[in-house]
Amino acid sequence: MSEAFPALQTRERLMSDLKAASGKWISGRLLGERLSVSRSAVWKQVCALKEEGYVIESSPRKGYRLRDLPDLLLIREIRDGLATRVLGRREARYERRTDSTNRIARELALQGAPEGTLVVADEQTQGRGRMDRSWFSPPLQGIYASLILRPAIPPHEAPRMTLLSSVAVAEALLAETRLDVRIKWPNDILVKGRKIAGILTEISTGMDAVEYMVVGLGVNVNTPAEDFPREIRQQATSILVETGAPFPRAALLRGLLAAYERHYDLFRTSGFGPVMQRWKTLTDMMGRRILVRTAGRQHVGEVLDFDSEGFLILRDDRGETVRIFSGDVTLL
Ligand code: BTN
Repeated sequence: MSEAFPALQTRERLMSDLKAASGKWISGRLLGERLSVSRSAVWKQVCALKEEGYVIESSPRKGYRLRDLPDLLLIREIRDGLATRVLGRREARYERRTDSTNRIARELALQGAPEGTLVVADEQTQGRGRMDRSWFSPPLQGIYASLILRPAIPPHEAPRMTLLSSVAVAEALLAETRLDVRIKWPNDILVKGRKIAGILTEISTGMDAVEYMVVGLGVNVNTPAEDFPREIRQQATSILVETGAPFPRAALLRGLLAAYERHYDLFRTSGFGPVMQRWKTLTDMMGRRILVRTAGRQHVGEVLDFDSEGFLILRDDRGETVRIFSGDVTLL
């Protein structure tokens, strides 16, 4: 029998048929008929799915049944129930283990990958954080994802996207976990003062436009407290630590992508105002005494406000008002 669909498409359709059967047996013959492929082609694709981590039982008389899904961030699992039009819908790449999803996304962006391209991994060996720090990325415990965006904005507006990213991640975490999530300027996501998620935005600009942006999202999902390296144990937390229960990572990533797209659309239709307004409701830095490290300088003082561009307005200890565009904040 000739195959009506390429093997990969057969695998996707086979998976949706197995899922639709909700754990009941379906015969190889029936599956073959539905997919217009031979029974041996069905068997081959079942083997490939098992390799990917799906638990599929097979019986010569009854056929196949799906027993369990892998706890992996496979693109197929992320897309199943994903409420976006663009993000994660076009090019998407999954790595079981890689150095850094931001590194891959940047390479894809340079090769012309479209807006909405998603790179996701189940482990990073050289996860990158802000300020040249590393990002702890243990296998199967967190979300490590990078998005390629191509916003039509001039380079000086790029910092807006950093703040937009933090609103999207905070909103998604709030909606999915009900935890009391707060943003520390510009885009650290904290619960009870400890970091639960971080965002690393890498931007390539031309003369008068942003060429592409890679937005890297790292979320500590199912990391037990004792697994965090000693140096960050006091500053880091995870959903598991805060709620006492593991959280399904693929579902959370779907929520993140949907929240991101909603805010990105809002930004494009209504400008930065509504995003910044929301950002302000999600921070509790107002009036706090802080230390800010910027390129080559340090400021200590009290937070007066965040302006309409997302700059931090600080009254420093000499009584001067400083407007800071980017930096690293320590709450004092
Ligand atoms: C921070 O320091 O707060 C930012 C952390 C960003 C980590 C994410 S994980 C996915 C993506 N790939 C990376 O190498 N870093 C980002």
